[in-house]
Amino acid sequence: MGVKTADRSPESTRARCASAVGLAEGGRNRARRTRAATARPTRGDSDLAILATVAHEIRGPVTALTTSSGLLAEDLAILDGEQVRGMLSAIHRRALWLQGLVENLLCAATIREGRLRLHREPLDLLQLIADTRSLVEPLVTQKRQTLRVRCREEMPTLHADGRRLGQVLVNLILNASKFGEPKTPIDVSLARSRDTVRVTVSDRGPGLPPESTERLFEPFYRSAALGTCGKDGVGLGLSIVKSIVQAHDGRVGADNRKGGGARFWFELNFTPL
Ligand SMILES: Nc1ncnc2c1ncn2[C@@H]1O[C@H](COP(=O)(O)OP(=O)(O)OP(=O)(O)O)[C@@H](O)[C@H]1O
Ligand SMILES: [Mg+2]
Repeated sequence: MGVKTADRSPESTRARCASAVGLAEGGRNRARRTRAATARPTRGDSDLAILATVAHEIRGPVTALTTSSGLLAEDLAILDGEQVRGMLSAIHRRALWLQGLVENLLCAATIREGRLRLHREPLDLLQLIADTRSLVEPLVTQKRQTLRVRCREEMPTLHADGRRLGQVLVNLILNASKFGEPKTPIDVSLARSRDTVRVTVSDRGPGLPPESTERLFEPFYRSAALGTCGKDGVGLGLSIVKSIVQAHDGRVGADNRKGGGARFWFELNFTPL
């Protein structure tokens, strides 16, 4: 009986490539289907329930990363440039997504232990948005969405924690991308009044779920309406947004955009010169 060798014909390689990239994008869908029947943890749930949810969330992307990187290592010599680029981009997007989840988990632990400390320094908001854009762009462009920044007034220099506020922006923009329709814009707009600046992130998605806005900012809260549209996530992003903004003595809020979609905003004080 002969040993079965792997089929390394160009057709087979193309098919495996497509499936690995598909897996990279679709791994979460499978995990989502598995989770559909899994109750979400709430703030009062055991650490074990929370760990189980997080593990479910991570399993899909990690499996996709293992498969894609293994395929690349094995078949690099016979893959063409376009196939390699496609797989590397998919790996990069998965890695970025996992990085965001890890940052949120670490931040949530810090908040829960009451250890959130700000490192305030002079902060240029527009520069922060530019830095954030480069982080989230691969995920946003994957859905063929465009990120538009609008700032009509001169912005003051803030005295704030840039790393933490960057995390606020990442969470709001990734929500806008996740819930927004493909091929639609995501708007980030900045406005100032006498002593406050407001940053608003608007999308073209289903708009706010029917429950009270406050609930959305609770740790691990995810709208039941999502049970049917199956978006990924553990429900930490907005609670972190709120904690970080409040640590800056700021405010958060959300409403619906005229013409459809949700708008989430945060507002920070500054001392006028
Ligand atoms: N842009 C939006 N449009 C509609 N609903 C939203 C939007 N952003 C958040 N929500 C609702 O608020 C819930 C909580 O959001 P949050 O960012 O905390 O969690 P998540 O995105 O589900 O998971 P995670 O941020 O941990 O990946 C979401 O599950 C969703 O129900
Ligand atoms: Mg989120």
